[in-house]
Amino acid sequence: MSAVAFCNSIIDDAKVRSAVKRLTLVNFRNYKYLRLNLKKPFIVLGGENGSGKTNVLEAVSFLSQGRGLRNAKLAEVKTFDFLAKQQSSPVFINNSGWAVSAQVEKFDEEFNIGTAVESVLKEFDYNETKEVERRIVQINNQKLSSQNELGNYLSIIWVTPQMDRLFQGGAQLRRSFLDRIVYAFDVEHARRISAYDNLYRQWLQILKSGNINTSWLEALEEQMSGIGVAIAAARREQVQKLNTFIEQNPDDTFPDALLALDGTIETMLDEKPAIYVEDYYRESLFNQRRNILFNDAGNNLNKTDLCVIYKKKNVPAALCSTGEQKSLLLNIILAQAKSLLCSRGMPSILLLDEVAAHLDEMKRDAFLAKIQNLQLQAWLTTTDLSEFVSFRDISQFFEVKDNTVKEVSLSF
Ligand SMILES: Nc1ncnc2c1ncn2[C@@H]1O[C@H](COP(=O)(O)OP(=O)(O)OP(=O)(O)O)[C@@H](O)[C@H]1O
Ligand SMILES: [Mg+2]
Repeated sequence: MSAVAFCNSIIDDAKVRSAVKRLTLVNFRNYKYLRLNLKKPFIVLGGENGSGKTNVLEAVSFLSQGRGLRNAKLAEVKTFDFLAKQQSSPVFINNSGWAVSAQVEKFDEEFNIGTAVESVLKEFDYNETKEVERRIVQINNQKLSSQNELGNYLSIIWVTPQMDRLFQGGAQLRRSFLDRIVYAFDVEHARRISAYDNLYRQWLQILKSGNINTSWLEALEEQMSGIGVAIAAARREQVQKLNTFIEQNPDDTFPDALLALDGTIETMLDEKPAIYVEDYYRESLFNQRRNILFNDAGNNLNKTDLCVIYKKKNVPAALCSTGEQKSLLLNIILAQAKSLLCSRGMPSILLLDEVAAHLDEMKRDAFLAKIQNLQLQAWLTTTDLSEFVSFRDISQFFEVKDNTVKEVSLSF
């Protein structure tokens, strides 16, 4: 069976499903307590601006590795008491932090994911100890050693209004977007990135301290070059895979995207063996030692940019219209979700925050129909529930108001 036929046979299998069946929030943003029981593939949250729709999606995004769909700091997620108006800064309701818990169904398996914030004592240099907050994660009440392991259980993909600027903003946005895609296929990627950041911080600290320990620097550079090249190789491999997937599964609604990487290391890997590139990486770090003291910009060896091209028109996404950019983004998201299902057997949960913006009705409905065909759970937000009328049979509608979320039955 060809790869494409194999993929379609998986997708046609009606059993494919992964869903949050129950979601509980405690002290999460505007919700002191919230519990939702979910029964349908589409969870549609309707409400006025600022009512708390995105906050619910953000809670679900914390069932995966990282800082959630808003890239938030842990402390800002905890419920503030906005009624304490006399105070110059918001007051936390209590000190217990926030928590999200979910009962999840994946194929015939059920498990519970919990995440919360805990305070731990962390040792810094010079024997200084400070209390810091960190996010802990549990599966079936067993603490995981690292958040990164969540990727073995669940894949969560999101589209947010902020991503409308994905092709216009700085490279950092696109790099994070790409790294989440890589992570969805290769859970080790997140570990590599955090290990690299950690080594880089140590390297910088030694250089800036003035107390230069050459052998320690060399040891760090050796490790950074190995991990740095592995990061570039993983990004490169994923982009190639996604391009092949898009090539083999052209979309009938959205323009097919072509992805490319603009990065020194990735480009070098096109022509040279990894071992040669690692040597180059190490030498570059060595040469940067002196510059780094005068220039805070730091090393940019892994500061790769993701370039997206509207394939048929051969135009970079940054030059495309707003609607075209959104369509290209959705083309990539659909390819990611579909290929994750085919190559990793991993059904994603989709968080689609105001996804209808910039799409005409035909495209919006075509997009939702594709998700429906993929048998995926989607969380959707809107200020107008009637946008989802064509999908009412597979949707559960909720009204978001007064810091709570109530199921409603709609008579369209
Ligand atoms: N830590 C917090 N504690 C309490 N409330 C918070 C906290 N952080 C944000 N909020 C509240 O959440 C509200 C925003 O919620 P959210 O972004 O989910 O709204 P929304 O329904 O998605 O709105 P829009 O339609 O404009 O996107 C803010 O108005 C703010 O009052
Ligand atoms: Mg919102």
